[in-house]
Amino acid sequence: MKSDFLVIGSGIAGLSYALKCAELGTVIVVTKKKDIDTATNLAQGGIAAVLEKDDSVESHVNDTLLSGAGLSDEKIVRMVVESGPQRIAELVEIGVSFVMDQKNSSGYSLGREGGHSCRRVAHAYDLTGREIERALLEKVRSHERIQLFEERMVVDLLMVKGKCPGWENSHHKRKCVGAYVMEGGSVKAYRAKITALCSGGVGKVYLYTTNPDITTGDGVAMAFRAGADVSNMEFVQFHPTCLYHPKEKNFLISEAVRGEGGILIGEDGEPFMQKYDSRKDLATRDTVARAIDKELKETGEDCVYLDITHRDADYLKNRFPTIYQRCLSRGIDITKDPIPVVPAAHYMCGGVKTDIDGKSSIPGLIALGETACTGLHGGNRLASNSLLEAVVFADRAAKFCNKYWDNLNKSEIPEVDDWKSGNATKLGEEILINHNWDAIRRLMWNYVGIVRSMKRLSLAKKRMEAIYDDVDQHYREYFVTPNMIELRNISLISLLIIQSAMHRKESRGLHFLIDYPKKAPNIKQTVFRRKRIEKNTWEIEVLKEAGNE
Ligand code: SIN
Repeated sequence: MKSDFLVIGSGIAGLSYALKCAELGTVIVVTKKKDIDTATNLAQGGIAAVLEKDDSVESHVNDTLLSGAGLSDEKIVRMVVESGPQRIAELVEIGVSFVMDQKNSSGYSLGREGGHSCRRVAHAYDLTGREIERALLEKVRSHERIQLFEERMVVDLLMVKGKCPGWENSHHKRKCVGAYVMEGGSVKAYRAKITALCSGGVGKVYLYTTNPDITTGDGVAMAFRAGADVSNMEFVQFHPTCLYHPKEKNFLISEAVRGEGGILIGEDGEPFMQKYDSRKDLATRDTVARAIDKELKETGEDCVYLDITHRDADYLKNRFPTIYQRCLSRGIDITKDPIPVVPAAHYMCGGVKTDIDGKSSIPGLIALGETACTGLHGGNRLASNSLLEAVVFADRAAKFCNKYWDNLNKSEIPEVDDWKSGNATKLGEEILINHNWDAIRRLMWNYVGIVRSMKRLSLAKKRMEAIYDDVDQHYREYFVTPNMIELRNISLISLLIIQSAMHRKESRGLHFLIDYPKKAPNIKQTVFRRKRIEKNTWEIEVLKEAGNE
């Protein structure tokens, strides 16, 4: 397989980037399940941007910086916020139908979410992601230069010696020229001039998550194995309100419900957020998730409740059709009953470290969307800034490719070795894989969750290292399967999260460490890189700028 551009993942970042790169050359998009199996497709809230006359770039920038707890890069924040309105106009142009409200100067109906000082979230009721995914997929499927392949699991990146136009300052001697991709039972080389990791987040590392099943950190894990810089993996965002019901795995109750007046209450019916933050239920997510965690630990209850019953029933059915129907199917009428909710892993603020054009440290490798750490979210992503980040960086990366296209286009895509299975045999016992899946997710939930301690992190590290070795050995001895590849990725991601968390000896944004409950005076990013020791042996190298000691 050969194309100019290889895009791994079919969410908003991958599809937006694919459409723009198709103006330059041929594009292959691979996705490991069905094309709509993306976090984008589940996104409820919307996309934040400065659209109203009485809103301002300054205000959105400040809200983002405040939420980011000192770790966002102001230059990146400003660039993203300033590009927002134009990217939203593009989405509308390709057919995304946002809800309109002619009473507003912008013409858009705008939602409100935690940490935003005004209404600025464009939405399609509580189906925003689905609407965006629909419109993008329609364009991609009918584009003559784009081929989209489903059920293609990427195993690892293809790396060869050489340079890549646009990465002149990179310290790497090798560049990325595509990926090894599982197709049915075999692994094939998909070669490309530029490869983009747009494979989403890491939610499946945790026992409870709002994310879809695909979120096994594949992009970050592959990039790290290839030697890319990976940043700020300790900042896992827990969404405060995931539906608590024995039959529901990952159903989100959008923050927009609190934006429209929803109040968090305990089993006793009493609101509690006033004890934690003057913004109460519309405080940023780190604060709200920690408050719920504390309430649950103190009261011993299984969940708290989100009460929006004071709003008009018809209004609620119209504004939140999915949430209304889904809850009703579980016997909860949100117009009459408070909704049982718990926090769950939702978003990875860290990831493959990129520059302002979405370029990773590895020549030929771009990272976009939740896979990337661009400097926008810092220590805590502001609600509804992620769809925005995805389209803005997809645009930047495509413009970068355009700028270097003459040189990129001239460069030959080198031949690579076929995938070698060596002496691998078939693993007859799937239980060996499934057991470790379960062990990792429980370990991460119990030991590396919303509130952390050095003792639990140290124990988690010891246990995860043992699991990682086990998984790595299976990977080398047996034929690879999608289940095994994902397990290999979540075990590496877990190690990265644990080590990043241990490294940040302070509490900041989403990372709360009881041994160090305050912010450290100096602000540092955590940057990790794989240091090869010998074949198949490596350690995590902490780059100079990391750490707070
Ligand atoms: C939500 O609707 O609460 C999720 C929005 C987001 O994660 O930004």
